[in-house]
Amino acid sequence: MPSSKIAGIGMYVPENVITNNDLKKYMDTSDEWIQERTGIKERRYAHRTDETTTTMGVEAAKIGIERAGITPQDIDFIVFATLSPDYYFPGCGVLVQRALKMKEIGALDVRNQCSGFVYALSVADQFIKSGMYKNILVIGSEKHSFGLDLTTRGRNVSVIFGDGAGAVVLQPTNETTTAGGKRGILSTHLHSDGESAEILAMYNPGTHANHWSTEKFADFNDAEMADMFMSHAMIENAQLFPNMDGPAVFKKAIVKFPEVILESLQVNGLSAADLNLLIPHQANLRIAQFVQQKLGLKDEQVYNNIQRYGNTTAASIPIALCEAWQEGKIKKNDLVCLAAFGSGFTWASALIRW
Ligand code: UT7
Repeated sequence: MPSSKIAGIGMYVPENVITNNDLKKYMDTSDEWIQERTGIKERRYAHRTDETTTTMGVEAAKIGIERAGITPQDIDFIVFATLSPDYYFPGCGVLVQRALKMKEIGALDVRNQCSGFVYALSVADQFIKSGMYKNILVIGSEKHSFGLDLTTRGRNVSVIFGDGAGAVVLQPTNETTTAGGKRGILSTHLHSDGESAEILAMYNPGTHANHWSTEKFADFNDAEMADMFMSHAMIENAQLFPNMDGPAVFKKAIVKFPEVILESLQVNGLSAADLNLLIPHQANLRIAQFVQQKLGLKDEQVYNNIQRYGNTTAASIPIALCEAWQEGKIKKNDLVCLAAFGSGFTWASALIRW
């Protein structure tokens, strides 16, 4: 059975840089608070109308495809991870298929928020290993700036998020290391615990309203039906923005990140000392530093770029992976771990022998 290797990788971030001081125009916050609690100095915001989650994903994909030495016509499956799709439906995968004039291939959207890219990579890995596909495009992209509460009311959430996209092309490989070990993705590990699903969530528009019942259904008029889906009250009460109990998420994250990283190492008979590079989902620099300390990793074993891009959710890992690779921090035979934790809760890791 072949392994999956990352044959090409690309990223795209919008030109528009938003510093912490820029956010002070909209809300009561400070550069000191944001840097001290999150490590973030600036983030990118997409152009309001010309850039969407899909267009950014497409730009990242074009680079990844070119670096893999193939064309969009060679891609035989798309997996697109995002929580900020262009449309409620259909998903972004088909929009990429259209934009890149690809063949009538399968396109799958993954809704796993911060761990979306690792979940998407794991799905693609199974299709490669089974022999079903030879060139899979995996994209993580987010346009958060479109849906953030930029008033003081939403500051605990809004200051951490930014926009951007990353993409990889997965291909089969039977290559081994000089010692005869496997190359490519060694294993992936996926987890969830829905007990606290609502503490990091965007509730609307959604079908959760508890007044839905079959008895009453026939009595609702059109306006009342529409109100359940989207209403002025939802806008006034900030129910169309993401909600987060930050401290609770933080506490869970610092337990689950190390757990899922160690799981990937243990399954492969390796330890933290063997890691050349850990690329954690860029949720908060303080979380990444805690994980580094807990695993006893040196600074050069962990890659962070949240300082420049904020938290780009499904895009954060492919963007960081791409930058680390471009900076020459990932070389052939290196052991690289991707790890993520976020809304759901869901968390995941992928261990890769480059
Ligand atoms: O990627 C998705 C997964 N998400 C995460 O992993 C996020 C995990 N959580 C976190 O990163 C942190 O909890 C935050 C960065 C979101 C918040 O940091 P915190 O240290 O947990 O702050 P807090 O929410 O406990 O708020 C502390 C204080 C509060 O004021 P009082 O009640 O102590 O007077 C907040 O109102 O800081 C205030 N505050 C702010 N002040 C200035 C909250 N947001 C801001 C802000 N600027 N942007």
